[in-house]
Amino acid sequence: MAKRVLVTGGAGFIGSALVAKLNERGDEVHVLDDLSFGRRELADVPDARFHRMDIRDRSAVRGALCTMHPELVLHLAAVHFIPYCNAHPAEAADINIMGTINVLDACEAAGSVKEVFVASTAAVYPISDEAVGEAHEPGPMDIYGVTKLATEKVAAEFQRRTGTPVVVGRFFNAFGPNETNPHLIPEIQRQVLAGQRTLQLGNLDPKRDFIHTADMARAVLALLDAGLPGFEVFNIGRGIEYSVRDVVQAFERQLGEPLHIEVDPARVRKVERMHLLADVSKLKAATGWAPEWSIDEGVATLLREPARP
Ligand SMILES: NC(=O)c1ccc[n+]([C@@H]2O[C@H](COP(=O)([O-])OP(=O)(O)OC[C@H]3O[C@@H](n4cnc5c(N)ncnc54)[C@H](O)[C@@H]3O)[C@@H](O)[C@H]2O)c1
Repeated sequence: MAKRVLVTGGAGFIGSALVAKLNERGDEVHVLDDLSFGRRELADVPDARFHRMDIRDRSAVRGALCTMHPELVLHLAAVHFIPYCNAHPAEAADINIMGTINVLDACEAAGSVKEVFVASTAAVYPISDEAVGEAHEPGPMDIYGVTKLATEKVAAEFQRRTGTPVVVGRFFNAFGPNETNPHLIPEIQRQVLAGQRTLQLGNLDPKRDFIHTADMARAVLALLDAGLPGFEVFNIGRGIEYSVRDVVQAFERQLGEPLHIEVDPARVRKVERMHLLADVSKLKAATGWAPEWSIDEGVATLLREPARP
């Protein structure tokens, strides 16, 4: 049956992919976003269901949810580009932690919310050369990971206090259309679409678990449909890791042309983890979910997107 669903951060990269999947199944989707990083046109909802609002504005968020009465709340609004968070730690903490407290407080006040999804991140894990499972001891390496671990704890406390089921999804590295932050794949996409065949990149050897946003969105909805009671944490990754060179090779295969790489010292991160790989067995066991998008299929669609500045 169609549900009234609120997606915070629904004008962003992953949030807009979730809105698209919720629309496909006929839910009544609302989006709450301040458009600080997202774009209005990415959130495919009518104006009456778009709530331009800062999650730090506690009374506005409470008022919006108490009027809307959503059954399901998917909380993705956050600042997450790591260099931005490092440069603005107080703002990152304010949005990611206090903002989450405000959204959860509003869920409680609305009295209609049956289930909550909270977006977390692989950045809560410490460095590991092995695939990390949910039971792995957290150990964030930067302020962003610290704020997201705090977000998880706030969500767990909300669940204990209110009894409302909460699913936390630890997203690994998303890729797909409509990226809003200058991560590796959109940067390669931008350079290639601008006609460059010699790419300027930073560290080449770190490996990441890249998962397409459409697969992420399917995983989130599968978890919510599973009707899990209590508080549960799930990794949401593809379970395969790719180095920067592997990603460049995927672009080469789709372009049918060789690409050369020049290491730009300004882009080389001083502190870098070499591996970040999800163990997704818990997600698969709970939902039967399996990824559908390969890196090559995702890259092929990115090459058809218009070049962004
Ligand atoms: N992209 C990734 O690879 C990745 C990986 C791990 C976790 N995540 C998490 O997934 C979620 C979505 O990330 P994304 O990649 O779509 O990022 P994004 O920046 O595209 O989306 C975040 C959205 O939140 C909105 N927002 C930011 N601050 C806000 C505020 N104060 N009030 C209201 N709205 C605000 C932005 O405008 C944006 O639309 C975030 O919680 C992020 O931490 C993303």
